[in-house]
Amino acid sequence: MVPVYKTFTLRYNKVIYIPHSYIYHTKMTVRKDTKYMSQSSFGNKFKVTTWGESHGKALGAVVDGCPAGLSLCEDDIQIFLDRRKPGQSRYTTARKEGDLVEILSGVFEGKTTGTPISLMVRNTDQRSRDYGNIAYSYRPGHADYTFDQKYGFRDYRGGGRSSGRETIGRVAAGAIASKILGELGISICTYTKSIGPVKISSFDKEEINQNAFYMPDAQAAAKAGEYLEECMKNQDSAGGVIECRITGTPAGLGEPVFDKLSALLSHALMSIGAVKAVEIGDGIAVTSLNGSTDNDGFTIKDGEIVKTSNHAGGIMGGISDGSEIILRAHIKPTPSISQPQQTVTKDKETLSLEIHGRHDPVIVPRAVVVVESMAAITLADALFVNMSSQMDRVRDFYMN
Ligand SMILES: Cc1cc2nc3c(=O)[nH]c(=O)nc-3n(C[C@H](O)[C@H](O)[C@H](O)COP(=O)(O)O)c2cc1C
Repeated sequence: MVPVYKTFTLRYNKVIYIPHSYIYHTKMTVRKDTKYMSQSSFGNKFKVTTWGESHGKALGAVVDGCPAGLSLCEDDIQIFLDRRKPGQSRYTTARKEGDLVEILSGVFEGKTTGTPISLMVRNTDQRSRDYGNIAYSYRPGHADYTFDQKYGFRDYRGGGRSSGRETIGRVAAGAIASKILGELGISICTYTKSIGPVKISSFDKEEINQNAFYMPDAQAAAKAGEYLEECMKNQDSAGGVIECRITGTPAGLGEPVFDKLSALLSHALMSIGAVKAVEIGDGIAVTSLNGSTDNDGFTIKDGEIVKTSNHAGGIMGGISDGSEIILRAHIKPTPSISQPQQTVTKDKETLSLEIHGRHDPVIVPRAVVVVESMAAITLADALFVNMSSQMDRVRDFYMN
């Protein structure tokens, strides 16, 4: 006989009996959800899971939901990873990391097979001794204190999972998402808009890859260099703004309520370490506009409905409108600085902490490709989700 446990329902004052096996099943469901709380995955149909720690053996990503038949090789991914690699200028850390990617699964004879694509980058230049003094103290501006509060235990080597190196997995996966977007005529241009107080005042696309900061304005890049020299002299660091412009996106991406495209993109960008704010279109500037200046009018051009302006940044009601999607990620100054900072140990002793070792005086240039990758992952996912939004499309897919 199956043992039964008595429980109750308030409705109709009825007492019901639930078999033991059902309760067991319910408990298992709860356990499964609890396990999911680590949240290392992003996306629905195009799902990216990143794994690995700063000073572990390797880091990487698993991309599940990439369609079969996409041509893909390690070089496609390496081009992206090289854009976030340290040691490319005097403003990025001097660690000699090759950050070479290996595709472990999901690709056969140069094409994706539709099965999970596993991507790995081995850690080769991780000198743990540089981080020894932070094992028991909490670095200001880092996740050390909050990790201890949450887990009661942490991998202190270079920040472990909350290290900027975690973004290697995002960028590797972003390279695949970008290839998918490219096949659909969607392109992304990402660049640095400001570093500290230095803002771009002109836009030359060709210039973006010509300077250490990925700025589309050579003069601003030179000024940003001078500003960072000053920061470095003062053992200090700087922040900045990254802008991302996405063209060729069809109208209709994003869901009307919780999974608005604006919400998904904000989630994607805010999940990058050091990103403190995200703007879409005119962003926070809309608060000082009027309806008459903020609204984008509509008109007909070559027989098509188009907008007369793009204050909304390509998203209305959470759904892409077909015009350029404009995003900005605001990045804080690098938290690791070598000037003395006040902190405490886990055992509540106060101390003055100086963080020596290799840290960028500014995170912005290396985060440019990370922002682009997260935007690409979000859009690839939204494109796949949107394929079933209309019965006509589903019918076309299966019947034609
Ligand atoms: C690409 C990238 C590289 C980073 N490199 C560094 C670094 O060299 N030194 C550092 O202190 N923080 C670096 N960070 C930032 C920290 O990881 C981040 O500020 C820290 O985990 C705290 O998280 P929060 O700023 O989101 O609160 C980097 C972040 C990114 C996205």
